[in-house]
Amino acid sequence: MDAIVLLKDDHKTVEKLFKEFEKAGDGAHKKKRDIVDRIIEELTTHAYIEEEIFYPAAREGAPDTVDHILESVEEHHVVVWMLSELRGMDPEDERFVAKVTVLMENVRHHVEEEEEEWFPKVREAMGRNRLQELGERMEKARAEAPADPLAVSSAGK
Ligand SMILES: [Fe+2]
Ligand SMILES: [Fe+2]
Repeated sequence: MDAIVLLKDDHKTVEKLFKEFEKAGDGAHKKKRDIVDRIIEELTTHAYIEEEIFYPAAREGAPDTVDHILESVEEHHVVVWMLSELRGMDPEDERFVAKVTVLMENVRHHVEEEEEEWFPKVREAMGRNRLQELGERMEKARAEAPADPLAVSSAGK
């Protein structure tokens, strides 16, 4: 599996969960809690495999894009701390939906930058075989991803 195809598939999975959350009714607290639990799991795993494998490999293979990578890590930092807060938050808390809304804005912005501005440069610099090999490593690394968003390195803990 090509690394960029794999990461874009993850982005689609997360976007589907975001849409589900947006469609859930005002009183659907249990449903929203369940969706947010899945969002936390998906995004933590995704951030983990990007930070452990894809970002370092891209930094080496596409060194011109280092500024983008550094910004991406800071965006992950904000996201994983928000995920950690959402993990322990009562879905009936008046801050819950607001926090998920801001999380979604941040992630959508981040995904758009990765897909539109950065991935094409990485693809060009790294080529097919290398991306294939990275994709295989990332697929395997999913099994080692932590459940705790703050265990991802960008959390800075
Ligand atoms: Fe990312
Ligand atoms: Fe991503």
